[in-house]
Amino acid sequence: GKGGYDHYMLKEIESQPESLSNTIRGRIDPEAPAVHLEDFPPGCFQDVTEVHFVACGTSYHAALYGARLLEEANVRVRTSRASEFTGRIPDPEGTLVVPVTQSGETADTLGALRAAGEAGARTLAVTNVVGSTVAREADEVLYIRAGPEIGVAATKTFSSQVVTLALLVERLTQEIDGAAAREDLGAFLEALSVLPNQIEEVIRTSRAEALSSKYDGRDAYFFIGHALQHPVALEGALKFKEITYEHAEGFASGELKHGPLALVTPGTPIFALFDGKHDEKTHTNAKEAQARGAEIVAVTASERTAAFADDMLVIPDTHPDLSGLLANVQLQFVSYYTARSLGRPIDKPRNLAKSVTVE
Ligand code: F6R
Repeated sequence: GKGGYDHYMLKEIESQPESLSNTIRGRIDPEAPAVHLEDFPPGCFQDVTEVHFVACGTSYHAALYGARLLEEANVRVRTSRASEFTGRIPDPEGTLVVPVTQSGETADTLGALRAAGEAGARTLAVTNVVGSTVAREADEVLYIRAGPEIGVAATKTFSSQVVTLALLVERLTQEIDGAAAREDLGAFLEALSVLPNQIEEVIRTSRAEALSSKYDGRDAYFFIGHALQHPVALEGALKFKEITYEHAEGFASGELKHGPLALVTPGTPIFALFDGKHDEKTHTNAKEAQARGAEIVAVTASERTAAFADDMLVIPDTHPDLSGLLANVQLQFVSYYTARSLGRPIDKPRNLAKSVTVE
């Protein structure tokens, strides 16, 4: 049941401290430091030369997050929307194809998995549902362990997907020839171990409800971010359009000036996501939009970064590679409370199904 909550979505947003603890349990050792993934013994990724993610919707955004981490570690990586996957794999021997899917039943993702298998690539599914079709058909499976998700809008499973992929990325970069494995692994895993508590803090202190009523009724909502905050901006906009039915778009911070800026009018809300490491680009581009009348909501751990903004959603200070997960929880609340004040059905948005089993 909903356990006293008005909606499964709110229950699932607020269960993230627990679901994320389950995701990391037994898998990280900040002291060593080391990452242990069941069924994946040391050395099992030695022959990988390239990684290719295939996914849809929210899972695609989680895949983009993982891909950015691999790219920063100098690993060859591609990410395809499963429905756009061509099935072409230039080097099937060295390519690890990773379908990312919460349900494990998405037809587009299943199609891409089958095409990758036929091309001769090794396939490793990242999914939530034990015994799902994708779990059964992939060569290997890594579970995100988020527990059942009932709301149509994916929330807790996004967080668990990103963290599972981050752990897989660690293992891959340790074993792939020529990859630059993280030098601050201990600090990263330490930050990961306290992330569930920090999400708890966001849940306790979020001002998203008050902020949502201030900004509802605008023509369009934009979300911008750079580096790892880019997929989070895309995810924030997807969630927002799904459950509020309002027009929302996510952009890479630097792309705003290449077209979308023409849509900015006085009062356009822009949620600008900062990670504490790449803040300059987002700052410059958000200010440019602000000069054209946009109202900026800075999602950041730093008062100083937010000083120029019209509003701030505070996130706890963490490793820059994890701050997107905290920003995302704030954005989940923004979508939820905006949809609620508009009287939307939230757990079952019109025209959408929890798992899309047609291509
Ligand atoms: C968004 C959402 C969808 C799914 C997409 C893929 O809130 O739920 O965009 O993420 O249909 O579903 P899975 O992950 O089950 O393959």
